[in-house]
Amino acid sequence: MKKVLVLYYSQSGQLKSVVDSFISKLNDDDIIVDVKSIKPTTSYPYPWSFYEFFDEFPDAARMRGCEVKKLENLEDDYDLIVLGYTIWFLAPSSPIVGFLKSSQAKKIFKDKPVVTLIACRDMWVMAQEKVKKLLSNVDAKLIDNVALTDQGKGIYSFATTPRWLLSGKKDAFWIFPPAGILQKDIDDASRFGQRLNEALKQDKEKEGKPLLKNLNAVCVNGKLIASEMIGTRSFYIWSKIIDFCGKKKTISRKIAITVYAVFLALMVFTVVPINIIVRKILNSFQKDKLKELEKKYEEPSGR
Ligand SMILES: Cc1cc2nc3c(=O)[nH]c(=O)nc-3n(C[C@H](O)[C@H](O)[C@H](O)COP(=O)(O)O)c2cc1C
Repeated sequence: MKKVLVLYYSQSGQLKSVVDSFISKLNDDDIIVDVKSIKPTTSYPYPWSFYEFFDEFPDAARMRGCEVKKLENLEDDYDLIVLGYTIWFLAPSSPIVGFLKSSQAKKIFKDKPVVTLIACRDMWVMAQEKVKKLLSNVDAKLIDNVALTDQGKGIYSFATTPRWLLSGKKDAFWIFPPAGILQKDIDDASRFGQRLNEALKQDKEKEGKPLLKNLNAVCVNGKLIASEMIGTRSFYIWSKIIDFCGKKKTISRKIAITVYAVFLALMVFTVVPINIIVRKILNSFQKDKLKELEKKYEEPSGR
C-alpha cells in the first residue's frame, strides 16, 4: 500500500479542480491519497479589492510567507508528496511560502520525492526556482513539475486575470476569452495521476528520477524568461518603496500603491509591447540560446 500526500492552497477553487482532476486516476485500492488544504491563520480576500491586492504585493514578492494553521491527521510516512500552488507576484503564494517555512514542513518533506503542480496566469518560471530553494531547505527531492496556465494568449490574460481576481468574473467579454485555465486542460491533468499510479506500483518513486516525462507537463515560453527576470528585480525595488511608505492599510501606503499601479499600467501598455517587439528581433538571432534556456527551466519533467 502506497501513501501520497497532496497539499494545495486555492482561493477561487481553480487549483482545487486541477488537484481533483490530477488525483482522479491516482487513488485506487493500492494507493491512499491524503488531500490537505493549507489554511492561512488570517484568510485572504477573494475577490480582492484593489488596495488589498497590492497591500499583499511586498510580502508576496519578498516571500515573507503568512502564518498557516497546523495540518491535522497526517499519516507518518508518505511515499510521495504533490505540492499544488499558485503564483502571486512571480513568487509562490504567501500561504505556500508560510507552510514551506514551517516546522511541520521540515518533518513532512524530509527526504521525500515531491511533484510540484502549478496553476497560474502564465508566469511561473521564477517562482518555481524559488520553490526549488524552499524545498531544498526542507531536504525534499523535487522529481517532477507540472504547470497549467490560463487560456488565450498571455497578452489577453493581462486583462482577464486581474478582472477575475478583482471582481470574481471569469466570463468572456468584448474580444477577450474567459479567464482561467481551459476546462479541457484541467480535465486532461488526470493523465499525470494515472502515470504516478503506475509508477508507484513499480516503486519508481524511490529512484529519484522524473516520472512524468513525455506528457507535456510543462512548456516554457523562452520569450517570457527575460520579462520574468526583469519583473522580479522591479518587484523587489517597488516592494521596498511600498513598505517604506507605511504599514498595510495606511494612507501613505495607499498613495504609494496608487503610484505603483499607474506605473505598472504604463509599463504594460508601453514597455511590454516594445519589449516584445525588441525581444522578437533579438530572439531570432538567439534561437539556440533560447531553446537551451527553455530546456533548463522545463527540467525535471520536460515536455
Ligand atoms: C495576489 C495575486 C498575484 C498573482 N500574480 C501572478 C503572477 O505573478 N503570475 C501568474 O502567472 N499568475 C499570478 N496570479 C494568478 C494566480 O497564480 C492564480 O492563477 C489565480 O489566483 C487563481 O488561483 P486560485 O486557484 O487560488 O483561485 C496572481 C494571483 C493573485 C491573487
